[in-house]
Parts: sequence; C-alpha cells; structure tokens
Amino acid sequence: MEKPKVVLGVSGGIAAYKACELLRRLTESGHDVRVVPTDASLNFVGAATWSALSGNPVSTEVWESVHEVPHVRIGQAADLVVVAPATADMLARAAHGLADDLLTNTLLTARCPVVFAPAMHTEMWEHPATQENVATLRRRGAVVIEPAVGRLTGVDTGKGRLPDPGEIFEVCRAVLTRGPGAPDLAGRHVVISAGGTREPLDPVRYLGNRSSGKQGYALARTAVARGARVTLVEANTGLPDPAGADVVRVGTAVQLREAVLKAAADADVVVMAAAVADFRPAVYAGGKIKKKDGQKPAAVELVRNPDILAEVAAERARPGQIVVGFAAETDDVLANGREKLRRKGCDLLVVNEVGERKTFGSEENEAVVLAADGGETVVPFGPKEALADTVWDLVAARFGQIT
Ligand SMILES: Cc1cc2nc3c(=O)[nH]c(=O)nc-3n(C[C@H](O)[C@H](O)[C@H](O)COP(=O)(O)O)c2cc1C
Repeated sequence: MEKPKVVLGVSGGIAAYKACELLRRLTESGHDVRVVPTDASLNFVGAATWSALSGNPVSTEVWESVHEVPHVRIGQAADLVVVAPATADMLARAAHGLADDLLTNTLLTARCPVVFAPAMHTEMWEHPATQENVATLRRRGAVVIEPAVGRLTGVDTGKGRLPDPGEIFEVCRAVLTRGPGAPDLAGRHVVISAGGTREPLDPVRYLGNRSSGKQGYALARTAVARGARVTLVEANTGLPDPAGADVVRVGTAVQLREAVLKAAADADVVVMAAAVADFRPAVYAGGKIKKKDGQKPAAVELVRNPDILAEVAAERARPGQIVVGFAAETDDVLANGREKLRRKGCDLLVVNEVGERKTFGSEENEAVVLAADGGETVVPFGPKEALADTVWDLVAARFGQIT
C-alpha cells in the first residue's frame, strides 16, 4: 500500500524545533512526509535537519526544481497538510490567500484536510487580526488547533504555546483516518468528562475506580480533529493534555459535577465518559486514620454522590443540547444499558462490557451505542478512537436533524 503523503509546513516560530518530533512520529508511523519550511523558520531549524529526518528534498520557495512544478504538485499530491508551528504571519497569509513562498502555494493547491497548530505570544494570538484570520480559516474547513496555555519564549506564560508534538500527531492521525470532508463539529462546543473520581477517606486514602480516562481522551482528540471547541473535565488520569482541548482538572464527583455544569452552560453536547463514584465516605478524617492493636476495623459509612448524567440530561443548559452517557456493565449488559438510558434521560448511551483487554486502561474497546429513539449501533472491537468517531457520527447526525 502507498504511504499516506503528509506535508509538514513549518513557519518561523521558536517552537519550530518541536516539529522535529512531530516529523519523527509521522515518518515512524508509515507516512511519507515532505517538509516545507518558510524562510524565516530556517533561522530556528535548518533545511539539513528536515531533509535528513524526512528523507525528502526541502525547499522554501517555488524557483527550485521548476520542471517538477513543485508549487502545484506538492499540494495536489498531499493527503494531509499540517502547519506546525503556524505563526501569526502564516495564519494571515493563509487566510488572505497569498502565494509568496512554497508553503503558501502548497496551501492553495491542496484539496486534502489542512491542520494549523498556531504558536505565538498571547498578545499576538488574542489580537483581533489573528482571531479573524483563524475564524476565516476555520470557516473554510481548516482545523485550527487552539494553542496550549503555559511557558512561552523567555519568562512569559500564557495562551500561545505549541501543544505537545505527540498530541498534534494524534490530531493528524485522527484527521487522516477520517479522510476528506469538512470538519463536521466546527463551531460546536463539546464538553467531555474523562477518568475516574477519587473520594477521599483521609489525606492519604480514597475510594476510587479503574477508569484510565483513555476513552474520554480519544473522544477529545477526535472532536478536535472534527473542528470542535473542546472542554475536557478530567479526573485523575495523569494523561498528557490533548492538543487543542481546554482541560479542567478535578478530583472528586462533587468537583466534577461543578466543572461539568459550568462548562455545559454553552455546550452543544455533553459526553459523560468519566467513571463517577456513586458514593463517597460520609466523613472525611482530617488526619490519617491509624490502626490500633486489638481494635476492630471501623465500618466506612457512605453517602450518595449526585447523579451528574441524570442532572445534565434533565436540565439541558440550552435547547437541543445533546447528552451522551457511558455505562460499563458486567452482567445483562444490553438490558441494563437500556434501563439506564431510560432512567438517565440521555440521548445516547455507550454500553460496554467490562472485560479482559477492553474498557479500563486498554487501548481498545467494543460497545453498543443505544439511542433514545430506539437506534442501536454496534461498534466492533478496535481502537478507542474508532468508538469515539462513531459517537461523533451519531451526534453530528442529530445536529443535522435539530438545526
Ligand atoms: C526569536 C523569535 C521568535 C519568534 N517566535 C514567534 C512565534 O512563536 N510565533 C510567531 O507568530 N512569530 C514569532 N516570531 C516572529 C516571526 O518569526 C515573524 O513574524 C516572521 O516574519 C514569520 O515568518 P513566516 O510566517 O514566514 O515563518 C519570532 C521571531 C523571533 C526573532
């Protein structure tokens, strides 16, 4: 099989060095990568690095190898163009359709999906000119990944940091897996909860569960790849932040409820993939509980936690909001799932059976997605991203019916 062809555009930001890691991930996972740097970016990483790492020729302008018409052919042949880092200048040139170097020519001739990963100082990112350029590019079907918040060049901190290259790679992979077609969640705000809550007994111990958060993170990555604005409420996962998602960290069920309800206020869809504890200890011991010789262990009294899925589904912060729940079951999986869907009042319920190599901690899953209108979609055993894409397909179909 022919390797998928990826164009990696690199523009002149300090984060250009991180694109080396993105390139390595792309080549090692079987992609044929053509790096197209801008002139300015060569001040940060030289052409020799790109050529040696990609195994392909590198040029910045249209006047080299003219017999091959590179200003047209590179874009036409691409299955994906990803620009990382994308400078404010690059976003402006792309939004205005300039064609003054090889990369901007390539962007105009490409008919495949295009991903921009902007990186710049917060002021540059927030400037209305940049924001309008980003909006223009998104409106035309490009996926523009929101920059991360963190350390910028020098001592500054704020929004504008290039996300982790491994996570940009995951977005590229999700975009390539989906293939051509406009990002169907563009303009939508999706809220996803992921991980497992921990209910503290004392400062050292907690009641927890085995959820790794991987399914919720797969939902977040695929939603970014489909153009959504993503708020990820994560509980105790320890996973790297998905590129482009706004991550809110929580510990307990009560904190998760508060964060989800706040984010849901303007959400188009809420997906509750987190495993939320049904109960929490009635009493939190302020100091570590000690064992004493001869003493019988004390029983732990529990109280009910709020039912967040039922609450989100019952209250619907805005008309037409779609609510998706998850159910991990061990017995009578489908019967329990149908009963839970009815009881919780959500639109879709992803029912999966807890088992070896599936669900908790694994990279794969299989499930049945039950719909309130009676629909049933079987998702065979496969990567958690495939299940996530099926959920988004069903959500996007419902948006189509509502709007
Ligand atoms: C040290 C240094 C770091 C820079 N980092 C960034 C950056 O992170 N993001 C950005 O938009 N511009 C950055 N710039 C400014 C760009 O290099 C400049 O706008 C240039 O014209 C971009 O050209 P290009 O878009 O063709 O690559 C930086 C400039 C310097 C000197």
